[in-house]
Order: sequence, then C-alpha cells, then structure tokens
Amino acid sequence: MGSRMNSYSWRILWLIILPLVLILGFMTLKKSNCQIGFSYNSSSAVRSGDQKAEVPSSASLPPISLEEGMDMQQPIIATQDENIAATINGLDISFSTNRTHDPPRNFSSLKKLEASLMQARAAIRVARNMDEIGDPDYAPYGPIYWNSSLFHRSYLEMEKRLKVYVYEEGEPPIFHNGPCKSIYAMEGSFIFHMETTKFRTRDPEKAHVFFLPMSSSMMVRFISLDRESRHHWSPMKGTIKDYVNLIASKYPFWNRSLGADHFIVACHDWGPELTKAVPNLFTNSIRALCNANTSEGFKPSKDVSIPEILLRDGTMHGLVGGPSPRQRRVLAFFAGGVHGPIRPILLEHWENKDPDVQVHKYLPKGVSYMEMLRQSKYCISPSGYEVASPRMVEALYTGCVPVLIKDHYVAPFSDVLNWKSFSVVVQIEDIPNLKKILMGISTRQYLRMQRRGKQVKRHFEVNYPPKRYDVFHMILHSVWLRRLNARIHGGS
Ligand SMILES: *[C@@H]1O[C@H](CO)[C@@H](O)[C@H](O)[C@H]1NC(C)=O
Ligand SMILES: *[C@@H]1O[C@H](CO)[C@@H](O)[C@H](O)[C@H]1NC(C)=O
Ligand SMILES: *[C@@H]1O[C@H](CO)[C@@H](O)[C@H](O)[C@H]1NC(C)=O
Ligand SMILES: *[C@@H]1O[C@H](CO)[C@@H](O)[C@H](O)[C@H]1NC(C)=O
Ligand SMILES: *[C@@H]1O[C@H](CO)[C@@H](O)[C@H](O)[C@H]1NC(C)=O
Ligand SMILES: *[C@@H]1O[C@H](CO)[C@@H](O)[C@H](O)[C@H]1NC(C)=O
Repeated sequence: MGSRMNSYSWRILWLIILPLVLILGFMTLKKSNCQIGFSYNSSSAVRSGDQKAEVPSSASLPPISLEEGMDMQQPIIATQDENIAATINGLDISFSTNRTHDPPRNFSSLKKLEASLMQARAAIRVARNMDEIGDPDYAPYGPIYWNSSLFHRSYLEMEKRLKVYVYEEGEPPIFHNGPCKSIYAMEGSFIFHMETTKFRTRDPEKAHVFFLPMSSSMMVRFISLDRESRHHWSPMKGTIKDYVNLIASKYPFWNRSLGADHFIVACHDWGPELTKAVPNLFTNSIRALCNANTSEGFKPSKDVSIPEILLRDGTMHGLVGGPSPRQRRVLAFFAGGVHGPIRPILLEHWENKDPDVQVHKYLPKGVSYMEMLRQSKYCISPSGYEVASPRMVEALYTGCVPVLIKDHYVAPFSDVLNWKSFSVVVQIEDIPNLKKILMGISTRQYLRMQRRGKQVKRHFEVNYPPKRYDVFHMILHSVWLRRLNARIHGGS
C-alpha cells in the first residue's frame, strides 16, 4: 500500500517537474539570441508563446568606447545656431522643430542634452582630415560616401554621446520582439540589438531619442486576423494608438516633442500605413522603414531608409562572398515574382530574350539562385509590390553590382552613402535599353563599382553581436543624424 502510494505521488511529482524542466529549458534556449528567435511564417496563425528577447549580460557585448585622445578636435560650442544643416548627402537634412506646446516643468537635463548635441554638430561641421584620427576597425574613405570625413566624425560623435531610451511597456509577441528570419528580419534583429546595446540607457532623462519597440510584422501576424475585411487595419492601428497613449500619459517625453525624438523600425509592407495610426507618429517621429516610398509619405529629412535583408536562418550564413569579376559570365540577372508596376515591364522585354540578360519568373530546374548572383556582373533589383527588395543587399553580399529600377524610392543610408558610386540606376523608361546601358559601362568603371560594392558591404552586415559600422549601427547612425537636426525647444 505504502509503495503504491509512493509510486502514485512520484507520478504526480513528475507531472509537475517535467513541464517545469521543459519551460526552463526553453527559457535558457531563448536566452542565447535572436538567431533562434522566431521566424515569420505568414501561413501559420499559431501563437508561439512568449518570445520576449532576453537581455544577455552586457559583459558579452563589446564595449563601445573611444580610444583616449581620439577626439582631437576641440568642439566649438555654438550658441545661437540651432538650424545646422549637416549636409552629409548634399541634400539638406536640416530639421528645425518648433514645439512650444506644453511648457515643461523641469528640463534642465534636456538642456544638457541639447548642449551636448550642439557640440556634436559643431564637431561634425568642422570635420576634415579625419586621416589623422586612427580608428581601430575601419576609417570611412573614398567615393562610396558623400563625405567620408563628415560621416566618420558623425559616427564617432554618435559613439561618444548617443543614448537611447527603450520603453519597457508592452508585451511580446507584438512588443520587444520581431522576426529575425525572413525578409522582415531587420525588424527583429534591430529590436533585439537595441534592447541589448550599450547605446541603451535606463534613464529616460539622459536619452536623446526614444525607441518604441514594436514590430509591424508581428502585428500583421497576430492582430490582423481578418485580412479580407475592409477594417483589417483598425485592430493594428488601435494597438499602436493605445501604446502611444500609454507612454504619453505615463512619461512626459512624447508630449514634450510631439514624438519628434521618438523612433520606430518597421520592415513589413504595411509598416508605413500602420504609422498613420497616430498622426504625430507619422508626421513627426523618425520612422526607420524598409519601404521608403516617397509617394507614401516617406520624408528623407526625418525618416530613415533601412535595407530589407532576407535572412533565411537568421544569419548571413551562406549569403556572403563570390568570385572575382573576371569569373562572372552572365551580364545581368533577375529571378522573382511578377508583381508591382515594374517587373511586368522587365519580364516583357527580357524574359528568355538574351542569354546575357538572364531574367526569369522561375529559375530553370537545377539552377541555384545564389549561384546566379555569383556568376553575374550585374544583379537587377526592381521594385515589386513595394519599393524595398532584398536583392540590393543580396547583390552587395555576393559581389554583384546592383541595378536599381525603382520609382519613389530612397535607398538605404543614402544620407551617407552615394549609391551611384557602387550601383547602376536605371529609369523605368530605359528598361528596353537595359543591355545597351550595361554594355556601355566601361570595364574600368565596372571594376570600380564592384570594388566599392565590396567596401560598402560592411554597412549591410548583420552581426551577433553587432560590430561597428554594420547595419545595426548604420540604422542607429541615421537616427542620430535625424535627431541632430532637430532641436526640441524645452522651455526657457
Ligand atoms: C508555416 O506554417 C505552416 C503551417 O503551420 C507549415 O506547414 C509550414 O511548413 C511553415 N513554413 C515555414 C517556412 O516554416
Ligand atoms: C513657430 O511657432 C510660432 C508660435 O507658435 C509661430 O508663430 C512661428 O511661425 C513658428 N515658426 C515656424 C518656423 O514654424
Ligand atoms: C530638475 O531636475 C534635475 C535633475 O533631473 C534636478 O537635479 C533639479 O533639482 C531639478 N530642478 C527643479 C527646480 O526641480
Ligand atoms: C566634407 O565636409 C567637410 C566639413 O564640412 C568639408 O570641410 C570638406 O571639404 C568636405 N569634403 C568633401 C570631399 O566634400
Ligand atoms: C500628454 O498629452 C495627452 C493628450 O493631450 C494627455 O492626455 C496626457 O496626460 C499628457 N501626458 C502627460 C504626461 O502630461
Ligand atoms: C509607392 O506608393 C505609391 C502611392 O501609395 C503606390 O502607388 C506604389 O504602388 C507604391 N509602391 C511602389 C513599388 O511604387
């Protein structure tokens, strides 16, 4: 009897212990990083449980610190100059906010922040001859940049000063979470890295910018249940509205700037539309978007274009590297779905027309997409339904020169990068002349572009943990530039 009771209680005990062990095991697994986080699967509507990105101990992350004495330029403290245009791209990105609403109670810390930003602006403005300043990893140089000295200085100033506050409100899977695989991978990987980076501050008084850690892809996946309905936007937009209302009522920061020093990152096609949920989010906040479509309200002066990068397994594994230009036998290559306004024109003119211009709806059996990228000199990246496409980065990763055929598109990091130096831009009207245009580029010029593409690749790399000048830091730097050009008037 006693032994029967015993085995019975053991069984009960196991029923309790086993799930605990499983849960604990799952949690430790989650701790490692975004790479094994969740992948976006639009055909699956099954909740995958809590996927909150765990914050690993900061000890495992490389410290972001500048070498002693690196900042050799004595910053000039500008006093009256609030409308500085850091014309890093020749395009005037000066942005002066005029917010005198809601006179703040105590913004002495804001004054300090603004003074620090002013020093940064002054330092960037006088940036020249950065060659004298050593950089342990990399020093930007050459024509891939509009102005490499300006960029270098601005990047170093960012490393020295920038602090980002990440709101802690919100629960996974919509908040503090995002896909780390699929073409929306930049959302998850940015959110994950933002939560764990040294740029994060836990003290909002010290923050230059505020991050809303929400994922448009996750909203589409978990909230938009009835996609056919005309009202499928409302639950997602409602979620964003509620979230902004929550942080606006709980903290003074949103109202202080009407959102101008707040930013979001969204890679999903619906991201831009979703930001209309809150008018100030749309018109004032910094929206880092994959779909940087100027016809949909993307403003290069305040919004940030980020690359769409297709990470099948959450990493760059197998995507990077390719043969030398001499070994590339195909002039131009494209394969992909025929949707949006541009691809039908491309297919109409080039599908099965010319062995030099390999344009396919579907690749022939046995032909590898990655191999084609590696065997081609030029890789065509036309817009589909949306302006963004992972093809530009696929090309750069494999040493193929990107050919952009897009309308109303602002290329990623074009505040810093001169895309024309490492890619070919072809107008839609010129699609029939595609081969002539590419053949017209001299071998010398092609080799130059190819070499520059290899140089610029570092700015599109996804690393765990992030490395200096990689895609995470480039996004952050673009946000930093937008913030530098906005001054928030906080009382007297
Ligand atoms: C997506 O989910 C469906 C249904 O759950 C499954 O059949 C399919 O294999 C999944 N696809 C991927 C790429 O995980
Ligand atoms: C700034 O705000 C003031 C008062 O609200 C207004 O009179 C002025 O025109 C605004 N300036 C700009 C540049 O918007
Ligand atoms: C304003 O805030 C700072 C720190 O944030 C504090 O040291 C100071 O005493 C405050 N001043 C007033 C008048 O409340
Ligand atoms: C880059 O910007 C700096 C600072 O404004 C300027 O002095 C320098 O001439 C610029 N360099 C080029 C190549 O335009
Ligand atoms: C910010 O403004 C909203 C709407 O005007 C208001 O409801 C909220 O209480 C304000 N937040 C704070 C912290 O004062
Ligand atoms: C960009 O936005 C415009 C306006 O909403 C839209 O017509 C177009 O289809 C969008 N996408 C592309 C690829 O141009």
